[in-house]
Amino acid sequence: MPKLPTLKIPDAVVPPPLRKPPKPGAAAPKGDAPSDLKTSPPPRKTDGDRLLDQAKDAPADVLAWVDQRTGASGFLTGMLYRKVPKGTNWFYTLGSATLFAFIVQAVTGVFLAMFYTPSATQAYASISHINNDVPLGALVHGMHKWGSSVMVILIFLHMGRTFFFGAYKYPRELNWVIGVVLLILTMTMAFTGYLLPFDQRSFWASVVGININGTGPIVGPYLSDFLRAGPELGATTLSRFYAIHMLLVPGAIIALIGAHLYLVVKLGTTAPPWLKADKPKVATPVAPLDAGVEGGNGAAPR
Ligand code: HEM
Repeated sequence: MPKLPTLKIPDAVVPPPLRKPPKPGAAAPKGDAPSDLKTSPPPRKTDGDRLLDQAKDAPADVLAWVDQRTGASGFLTGMLYRKVPKGTNWFYTLGSATLFAFIVQAVTGVFLAMFYTPSATQAYASISHINNDVPLGALVHGMHKWGSSVMVILIFLHMGRTFFFGAYKYPRELNWVIGVVLLILTMTMAFTGYLLPFDQRSFWASVVGININGTGPIVGPYLSDFLRAGPELGATTLSRFYAIHMLLVPGAIIALIGAHLYLVVKLGTTAPPWLKADKPKVATPVAPLDAGVEGGNGAAPR
């Protein structure tokens, strides 16, 4: 049989601890420790080099400092490396997609708040200013406006997924209830945000919305009075909607998303309903050993 040529793996791709030491007297490869330390000591690092090394290690050092004090890496490992059942698919990404939509709304909302004036006389003008004069203002406003519809669509799809996959059942009922509250809060965000441009469409849409709330049983009239913040929709309504849209509801949503995700990690993900559990393995009966021991009924061994 012909002898196969031996492949020499270049030293550059072998990690240093696994490299063969150079033959005595042979010139050491560039970058390695010199073979004869007496005649050629390793070059001393300059202050600049040391500073550069420290700068390179700085991000890892900061993370280690925070981790030592918070134990965050344990939490993140548990969260990111948790086991998920077989058969999970794209439908399982709808919750994360909703979360992403919320984050986009929060970030774009912060930038809009820098230029928006919540006053009945200036709100419309400030939105026009954002759209026409502020750099990238129209883009950020557009992202926020269309993003609200995207979030509402995604939250319904996510709810549909959890419903049809039976994820509302024991032990995840509480997470479902938290989800329902999140749905109501998301709709509240969409409703209160709609008034903020204070143009004809948003004004009359809010009048209709508040009146619809007023038709609810028992609490309905109180709710519509609370939302209107006065006998007619006006400046006080705008201030109230702004406070609900900017402070009250986002804070509650953030807290509830935290609880929602904590429960998702703690309880694990529901397996798809079409996935049947493996049948338990039945032990194969073993023929009784003829050990020559007398049976329990006193019969003589065969
Ligand atoms: C701001 C809104 C929401 C966010 C950010 C959110 C986020 C998430 C995420 C990331 C997951 C894990 C991944 C997944 O299964 O998709 C999840 C799971 C879950 N969500 Fe939501 N969710 C929201 C609203 C809702 C709503 C409205 C409901 C139902 C009424 C709901 C019920 C559930 C349930 C029951 C689970 C557990 C799913 C399972 O075990 O398979 N969530 N959510």
